[in-house]
Amino acid sequence: MARRSSLLLLAVALCAAAAAAGLLSGRAQVRAPGPAPRQDYDRELAAAYVDAGCWQCHAVSTLDVELKHDFGHQAAGVRPYGPDLAGVGALYPRGWHLAHLWAPAEVAAGSVMPPQRRLFDAASRPTPQGEQVVRFLLSLTLPSRQRPAWPARPAAMPLPGDAQRGKAAYAEYCAGCHGATGAGDGPAAAFLSPPAANLAAGRIFRRAGPATTRDDIYATITAGLPGSGMPSFAHLATQQRADLAEFVFRLPAK
Ligand code: HEC
Ligand code: HEC
Repeated sequence: MARRSSLLLLAVALCAAAAAAGLLSGRAQVRAPGPAPRQDYDRELAAAYVDAGCWQCHAVSTLDVELKHDFGHQAAGVRPYGPDLAGVGALYPRGWHLAHLWAPAEVAAGSVMPPQRRLFDAASRPTPQGEQVVRFLLSLTLPSRQRPAWPARPAAMPLPGDAQRGKAAYAEYCAGCHGATGAGDGPAAAFLSPPAANLAAGRIFRRAGPATTRDDIYATITAGLPGSGMPSFAHLATQQRADLAEFVFRLPAK
């Protein structure tokens, strides 16, 4: 009898211990860092990208295993000619990608990426393959470790700008989308929705308060407008961004 009850006690104790262990290990699992999230992968869209030869200059670090498995080492290797495309889907909208494939240097000043005109038909509309390549790019939403996050909005222009110098920088970095005179009609503008803003039309700055300030323009140039085709120019020197802001501020008066 005594032996039976002590067995019973032992069993109860074992159950309690097992439950406690289960609970603990359950907690431990919640706390432990899970496996890194995987990038969505669509083989058909990837095939359009590989077929277009983009891998000659680009890598997609978040899909290196998948691309290597399905298309061979060449399609997945690290390339020195162009940036890692991981994360570009979260960085730019569809119109930006189309404009960039059509005329890379108009969208990204100094780009040596060749225009990808075979992905467009005679009416400058993307072909079915062009559509698939853009959908592939838009699916690349997991950030690359090499890509800095979208910069925070700075509050104020920290130093005065020079409109004359700003004019030259504008021609280099902005005219491809906003047009030579700021009217929003550059060679890349047709692809952008919302359209590249008309910077010469008077009070146009929809993110500004009652009056457009240099600070608003400076902040827009620095941080870009996430989700639209307006990129961040945080990589330009502070003085150059101030020069650009001064030039754009004076544009409507011209
Ligand atoms: C001959 C080399 C070359 C080829 C081929 C090429 N690219 Fe590029 N690509 C570049 C370079 C250089 C840059 C950086 C300058 C720029 O942004 O345009 C770039 C930039 C990009 C960017 C912007 C990346 C970023 O972080 O801002 C995207 C998106 C892109 N390429 C997509 C493509 C696609 C899609 C193809 C194939 C249809 C392709 N590229 C073919 C060289 C190339
Ligand atoms: C790849 C195309 C592209 C390039 C290059 C570009 N922009 Fe833009 N920009 C846009 C688009 C598109 C918008 C409109 C975004 C919206 O309405 O949400 C915009 C909006 C703006 C605005 C805000 C207008 C408003 O009414 O709020 C300013 C200011 C501006 N751009 C300045 C510049 C300057 C200065 C440069 C060069 C340093 C530049 N942009 C380069 C596409 C571009």
